[in-house]
Amino acid sequence: MNPVEFIMEKRDKKTHSKEDMHSFFNAYTNDEIPDYQVATWLMAAFLNGLNTDEKICLTEAVINSGDRFNLKHINKPKVDKHSTGGVGDKTSIVLLPLLASLDVCVPMMSGRGLGHTGGTLDKLESIPGITVQLPKEEYIRIMEEHGAVFMAQTTAITPLDKKLYSLRDVTATVESIPLITASIIGKKMTEDLDALILDVKFGNGAFMKTFDAARNLAQSLVDTSKGLGVKTTALITDMNEPLGEYIGNSVEIIESINMLQGQNVESRFYDVTMALAKRMCHSAFPKAEKNWRKILEEKLSNGDAYEKFLKIINAQGVKTETVGNLRDSLPIAEKRVQIKAVQSGFISAIDSYRIGRLMVELKAGRMKITDAIDFGIGLQIFRHIGDEIKADEVIAELIVHSELETDAFARCFTIQDQPVKKTEVIREVIRR
Ligand code: URA
Repeated sequence: MNPVEFIMEKRDKKTHSKEDMHSFFNAYTNDEIPDYQVATWLMAAFLNGLNTDEKICLTEAVINSGDRFNLKHINKPKVDKHSTGGVGDKTSIVLLPLLASLDVCVPMMSGRGLGHTGGTLDKLESIPGITVQLPKEEYIRIMEEHGAVFMAQTTAITPLDKKLYSLRDVTATVESIPLITASIIGKKMTEDLDALILDVKFGNGAFMKTFDAARNLAQSLVDTSKGLGVKTTALITDMNEPLGEYIGNSVEIIESINMLQGQNVESRFYDVTMALAKRMCHSAFPKAEKNWRKILEEKLSNGDAYEKFLKIINAQGVKTETVGNLRDSLPIAEKRVQIKAVQSGFISAIDSYRIGRLMVELKAGRMKITDAIDFGIGLQIFRHIGDEIKADEVIAELIVHSELETDAFARCFTIQDQPVKKTEVIREVIRR
């Protein structure tokens, strides 16, 4: 394989052979091809696309570029979920122990927040003592004992994705459905899964701004994952307002604890979590004709899911005294600053992207991977799209260290005179 001819092929809208794709990406993983040639190929692929076989080939190259989990000896169905990211999305923190309490193994590899979205690992790290970065053998040991573990991606897993993603980031080639597909599915396929559930979000707080773009991505993710032999279902969910009541790190852990203890059952956060959990159960136990919704509700209300969560975080370094007093151990900033409605009417839009950015400016998130996070900063949103409100009513509260100007936050809530219809958070399910 000649790299120049390989680039020409994509430039001229031709199809690559499997062998050439494997050679090109294998060589790049081993630093035998320079970044400038791969960057040029990325732009050609961005502009001219990849067909299904090429997408699968690139995904395989990502998977095979590094280490993988082998969990065959764990005699449970292995199921994970992946979300394309949003604001206030903490479903993983509930799903992992909830599914583990039903004897499903969840080898969940999560990420950190970057840009306007938060990350599951950062939220978890607001729990004093927790370690999400463990040796692979320790992750496996915790999965053997408790059925699930919160994992961070190690450098040994999918090094090709790490290199490609950094290059895409600086060459305007991130927003490509085939490249995103290979990146996401490549990482997930290293977890030795039987099934995968995807939460593909659309809206102002999501990566994909429109429903149609999210549907195209969902279809591509499902086709590729299935092409690699893993049962996959995608839910398309609305991210035109933050998910749930809280945004921030400690506060999102508290909101997750509430749900794990059977509270907070009337929210979009609950609806998305339960829909994902139900799909995970169906995929884990395809032959069992059970009322999964009822079983899941019981696991939350009878304390099993919360107990599982405590056992897992205890195994990940959280001291027994902290586990016994978890809510009070979380750092929470001392001051509450009210955000008031600028006029009477109905909330017609909430700019989740802008809220996410403003929270990053307050240090609840990070702009660069090296930035430090203030775990105690948060935002509580009381009113949602479709709610009727009065001028000056408190619609949200910032949880911060000192008084601050709230105009920028207030402007994230659009209020109109006419009533606004509330929309469903789950818009479509894609299985094939
Ligand atoms: N998330 C990923 O892991 N990869 C992408 O390419 C985009 C989002």
